[in-house]
Amino acid sequence: RGYIVNVTIIGSGYVGLTTAVALALIGHRTRVYDIDNAKIEGLRVGRAPFYEPGLEEALQAAQANLQFEYEPSRAFENADVVMIAVGTPPTPAGGANLGYLYTALRDLTEHNTNHDVLVVTKSTVPVGTGSNVSAFYEQATGRTPLIASAPEFLRQGRALADTLYPERLVFGTRDPRALTLLRELYEPIISQTFEPPAYLPQPQQRSTVPAIECSIESAELAKYAANAFLATKISFANEIANVCDLVGGDVQDVMAVLGLDSRIGAQFLQAGLGYGGSCFPKDTRALAQLSNREGYSFKLLSATIEVNNDQRFRVIDKLERHFGTLQGKDITVLGLTFKAGTDDLRDAPSLDIIAELVSRGARVTAHDPVALDAAGKMLPAHVRLCSEAQEALKGADAALLVTEWPEYRALDWRAAQRSMRHNVIIDGRNALDHHLLAEIGFVYEGVGRVGRRALPAPTFV
Ligand code: UDX
Repeated sequence: RGYIVNVTIIGSGYVGLTTAVALALIGHRTRVYDIDNAKIEGLRVGRAPFYEPGLEEALQAAQANLQFEYEPSRAFENADVVMIAVGTPPTPAGGANLGYLYTALRDLTEHNTNHDVLVVTKSTVPVGTGSNVSAFYEQATGRTPLIASAPEFLRQGRALADTLYPERLVFGTRDPRALTLLRELYEPIISQTFEPPAYLPQPQQRSTVPAIECSIESAELAKYAANAFLATKISFANEIANVCDLVGGDVQDVMAVLGLDSRIGAQFLQAGLGYGGSCFPKDTRALAQLSNREGYSFKLLSATIEVNNDQRFRVIDKLERHFGTLQGKDITVLGLTFKAGTDDLRDAPSLDIIAELVSRGARVTAHDPVALDAAGKMLPAHVRLCSEAQEALKGADAALLVTEWPEYRALDWRAAQRSMRHNVIIDGRNALDHHLLAEIGFVYEGVGRVGRRALPAPTFV
């Protein structure tokens, strides 16, 4: 078999833990270090700190190659590679807070004894951080470190599959020794020569995974650029949807046409109430701020962000148009997480939407299949939380679908129709069967989906 590398991963969040489990599964001796004792204690007994399909099974399967540590003095023993995968949360000004990154570096430089260790940054960091990491290390230890940037592109809900069967890898380093170590570490993934775990979605095809070798700066920028581009695709789809609302047409059909053009590609053209989550909002703002700082105004990105900020309120305006006012109306919000398949509420559009509904005088009932408890702590006190979607709809004036959980499409809408006071549905994700809903008697409005029927009379010039 291939090389076995001793890796320590700092940070047990989405990126850190997923990377650690994936590397352990392909045979490397992997240690996860986190300053959060409770998280580490939980992981030692097989408890994942967040919900991710297949993660608990993978933790079990990779057990023999995995160690969890909160003592910095033991975290770096024998490590050939140390990966930094700590959070880089947004600062109030929209930049990236690198506090956790420097804490990690301090722990590393104080406790690591192998000065040939390769330090890899996996966290999303502003361009230039790699050389600051290098300078920090040099100042603390008196030695020049081996460093690289290997940004992560995994999606929540598909985190392990994305890590084991990526479309590409990025090795940002110009140092040949660092490149050799990275190639050894990722060899099974590059060649796709391991057995795909049965409990994960199976890979579509298993050809060799390309690894792009570039400078640290290119690697750092590539991560922001990829997220900014995907966010731009979404905002573009949303703007076309907004035009559909005005002139007629169905954005789903329009995007199906675009998506079949291989130069455009079908993914990330789903219109709705905009993107949320821990990456797109933060990374688009950080790239805009980074460009501004250098005196460059990234106009396309500013527009992407602005469209996204407005988009979540457009569904509320639609709702208000139905009733004239939302004052005293009972509105049921279906779905709270930022997308389906995750329990994550970070930058979830639902939070802004509910706050706005409340401020316009609506009485809000909210449902979510996985995040109700966590949401309870983040929502205004008088929002009613309901653990049954059907129950949540009883007596409602309108339903507003915010997250595309499959169970909402499968709901018994005939029963809901009988129990609601008014039969209005705003489908913020275009996820429901609008033909069926119209047939049952609902007033249905999606996003760019059912265009205005009464267009102005044509003028023939
Ligand atoms: C994203 C990137 O996809 C991933 O590569 C990066 O590493 C981290 O950020 P994630 O945040 O897990 O991953 O979710 P993703 O599935 O990309 O969705 C992000 C947001 O965009 C969600 O709110 C989703 O609802 C929204 N979205 C996505 C759309 O509104 N329309 C689309 O067509 C696709």
